[in-house]
This record gives sequence, structure tokens and C-alpha cells, in this order.
Amino acid sequence: GAPIEVDLTPIAEGQDIKVFWRGKPIYISHRTKKQIEEARAVSVSSLPDPQSDEQRVKPGHDQWLVVVGICTHLGCIPIAHEGQYDGFFCPCHGSVYDTSGRIRQGPAPTNLAVPPYTFVSDTKIQIG
Ligand code: FES
Repeated sequence: GAPIEVDLTPIAEGQDIKVFWRGKPIYISHRTKKQIEEARAVSVSSLPDPQSDEQRVKPGHDQWLVVVGICTHLGCIPIAHEGQYDGFFCPCHGSVYDTSGRIRQGPAPTNLAVPPYTFVSDTKIQIG
């Protein structure tokens, strides 16, 4: 599949959009300060799939989270802004992901995947 470009300017802080890349749903979240702080406050070693928030976003673009919207349990599409960690909630079997897309609770074994992407400018990314 070809790379896609996504303009980030219409996505207000606290909102997210879903785009499709190679037939996969991709969530792009414009995180609030609070959501970033929550993602960074947790002890990484306590996580089921230990990854720091910094590892999951691009330097200087901390407010943008880009993840593949496919639950790592059995492939359902999680719902954004749901669940007790203000991240993503998978209604199929109750996996709960945080504001960094990391698994926090439920049967999913790993964090939501981060697709390959780069910032083309401050307000535009290329996925793929
Ligand atoms: Fe998401 Fe099972 S597919 S919790």
C-alpha cells in the first residue's frame, strides 16, 4: 500500500480521528496536557508491555499519538476515549489501553502498535 498524508490541523486538542492505511484503522489522537502527564506518570516497569510514552511518540510532537486501532487480543477495533485510563477500550473482551495506547488491563498481550510515520511538517504526517 502507498503511504498516506494526513493533515492534523482539523483535530482539536482532546479529539482524535480515524484514518485507514493499508486497510487498517489508524487512530490519531491530539492529546491534552493531562493525557500526556497521565501517560508519563506511570511506572514503565509495572506495565504488561513495558514501553515509555516517549518511545511511542515523536520527539517534539508529544501531543500526537498515532496507533493502529486493532486490539492486540483478537483484533477488534477499540473505541477511543473510553475506559478507565482515558485511552481506548475494546468492547469485545474488555481490554483497556491508556493515553499512550499501552495495554493496562484485560486479555490483550501487547500495546497497540505504532505504525511507521513521520512528520512532514508540524501539522502533517505521512503514514507508511
Ligand atoms: Fe479486544 Fe479481545 S479483541 S479484548
